[in-house]
Amino acid sequence: MKALVVGNGGREHALAWALLRSPNVEQVFCTPGNGGTASTQNCQNLPIKVDDFAAIAQAVADNSIDLVVVGPELPLSLGITDYLQQRNIKVFGPNKESAQIEASKSWAKALMQEAGVPTAESETFTEAQAAIAYIQQQGAPIVVKADGLAAGKGVIVATTEAEACAAVEELFTQGFSKLVVEEFLEGEEVSVLALTDGITIRPLLPAQDHKRIGEGDTGKNTGGMGAYADAPIATPAIMQQIEQEILQPTIATLRKRGIDYRGVLYAGLMITPEGKAKILEFNCRFGDPETQAVLPLLETPLDSLLLACAEQKLAQHPPIKWQDGIAVCVVAASGGYPDAYEKGKVITGIEKAEDKDAIVFQAGTKLEDGKVVTDGGRVLGVTAVGKDFSSAIAQVYSAIECIEFEKMYYRRDIGHRVR
Ligand code: AMP
Ligand code: GLY
Repeated sequence: MKALVVGNGGREHALAWALLRSPNVEQVFCTPGNGGTASTQNCQNLPIKVDDFAAIAQAVADNSIDLVVVGPELPLSLGITDYLQQRNIKVFGPNKESAQIEASKSWAKALMQEAGVPTAESETFTEAQAAIAYIQQQGAPIVVKADGLAAGKGVIVATTEAEACAAVEELFTQGFSKLVVEEFLEGEEVSVLALTDGITIRPLLPAQDHKRIGEGDTGKNTGGMGAYADAPIATPAIMQQIEQEILQPTIATLRKRGIDYRGVLYAGLMITPEGKAKILEFNCRFGDPETQAVLPLLETPLDSLLLACAEQKLAQHPPIKWQDGIAVCVVAASGGYPDAYEKGKVITGIEKAEDKDAIVFQAGTKLEDGKVVTDGGRVLGVTAVGKDFSSAIAQVYSAIECIEFEKMYYRRDIGHRVR
């Protein structure tokens, strides 16, 4: 089969890589892809933007593509799936209505309440005064969430009432018309990416990511500076609770509403000190960089799972098989990220890192005159698989040390919670 991956990040390189490992997949196209997908055998980039649905549909027809796999939330929330399905194209990724689960915090919160899943207490507000009164009544710490895609900048975990009130004013001033104010939950976060065809849901291995730029999980929030799977905090008992109390009721409630959700349901969870999982947020896509840690452990061919979701045949699919061991992914970023950074720096040492038995997933890169150069904040993610955390961590760092570009930055403590 031939697949087309929409997007240009590390997650999309990992999806293309995992698809090409399957004996059934002869070729993968990426729109627009990056330097990594451009340099991968049997993988070809097509210079099409993720929101140019007509050009994507044309590329599907021109190249006899059997399945489109959508990476980022933006095209999903703009309705790429609806557009392609109307043209009889098979798509892995939820439709526009379903994608609200990520695009609208208030929609997601109402769904969680209807499904009766464990989550933080919350209220939705359309004006500052009422939100501020609620914050004053609840006290701090408290969490303020903008309703709408905000590129990771829409959530403020406020330690004081004043900070929370300022966040409310700021978000309404920025033009958001709704926000959610929610109870602060204590604990450790875990990401469970689950595959669903709208009826059946199958969780992948739990992963944890490191969101902050600085070592010791300090400093500004980023898209994610590293990740690992299988995350030991999500014990088999907790995974069972997540599946039974969160994932299954959520899919059942979507179905009851007549919503046919086919794709990844990404559950961002808090494991409380009592050992109970509560849902913080849902995303409608694979996580980045969690995908770069989870997919290298997958033994079942990815294409057969994604097709089963797209064709609503997941219940008939054999159980997902995993390789034993642990995968750790460390992200290398451009110096200055998540603030301003320079682009166009030549990257060397990728092959040397690969010779150390690591996988180099490229993210913000492009191929220029045969050289791979930096083209974004998160430049690449190096993943190593080991029998345990200490061997995977040692291996990933010995590989990433081979790679160089001007002002390259990476955290040296990925996996510190489990070391
Ligand atoms: P979200 O986009 O809703 O996942 O929020 C982004 C981040 O904010 C999460 O990954 C958590 O670190 C934090 N966060 C969100 N909601 C809460 C909450 N209710 N309690 C504590 N931290 C939260
Ligand atoms: N790593 C967090 C996310 O993909 O949203």
